[in-house]
Amino acid sequence: MGRSIVFVTRKLPPAVEARVARDYDARLNPDDRIYTPDELIAHAADADAMLICTSEKITAALVERLPARLKVISTFSVGYEHMDVAACRARGIVAANTPGAMTEATANIAMLLMLGAARRGYEAQQMVRRGEWQGWTSTMLLGVDFVGKRLGIFGMGRIGRAVAERARAFGLQIHYHNRRRLPAAEEQGAVFHEHLDDLLAVSDILSINAPSSPETRHILNADAIARMPDGAIVVNTARGDMVDDAALIAALKAGRLRAAGLDVFAGEPQLNPAYLELPNAYLLPHLGSATIETRDRMGFMALDNIDAVLQGRPVPHPI
Ligand code: DGY
Repeated sequence: MGRSIVFVTRKLPPAVEARVARDYDARLNPDDRIYTPDELIAHAADADAMLICTSEKITAALVERLPARLKVISTFSVGYEHMDVAACRARGIVAANTPGAMTEATANIAMLLMLGAARRGYEAQQMVRRGEWQGWTSTMLLGVDFVGKRLGIFGMGRIGRAVAERARAFGLQIHYHNRRRLPAAEEQGAVFHEHLDDLLAVSDILSINAPSSPETRHILNADAIARMPDGAIVVNTARGDMVDDAALIAALKAGRLRAAGLDVFAGEPQLNPAYLELPNAYLLPHLGSATIETRDRMGFMALDNIDAVLQGRPVPHPI
């Protein structure tokens, strides 16, 4: 019997691709072009497993067309809103992901966004790089302190909890809204809010850390923003579709919100061009998990899932 075939839909870190090539008949994508659905089907034709990224939309229609021999689709991400997991299940295809691999890296980016937004990181960079810095003054580019302020965390999963841990060290008081209460977080002083509206009302800074779903789409809309304190800050490291861009942009423009730090955008890499005009928007290109160590870990976890399915062992991270 030949080696199992693993189709890797995007270019992955060298160590990850090397492991695929060592253990399998690897179908790689060295040009890193995002394949169309037809191309995905063509490349998957004789594959036993697919290692995908969030750029691949695994819809029910696509799952229908996958070959009968395909046993597992493992995504190089914790988020799996790009996969129709029920459709995979119905076809007997295991869907798997990489939870926990990027917790620390993403929480660090949330802190970078928080600081960048609160301390006017974008304006400061611009001033220095444009040669506009005239020297120290007591009133130049003043931001706001964290000590004593309230951080509202929407979604207290692994990443939300890692953000809380870091934010506590900055003197922020932690408030959270989550499907279930977390006694361990509350023992450390975090305040639970059963209703999101109540969390919004106390969030001097709001960090979005919940998964994207039809229920959370545009959860931060004009109504939600209206409930937040004047001059609040919004940080998003989760998914762009959870924010109503028009409402956020209007609030940032009007100064109703002080600033936003955003790593994710609906329709990325395209983003609402109005963000680019806002000095109080601190913007990053989806860097949450972008560290050398984290990306290797994600790849290895995604491969552990594939190995387990193809060897008939329990899958470490089924969705
Ligand atoms: C994830 O894991 O869902 C990230 O957003 C991908 O970097």
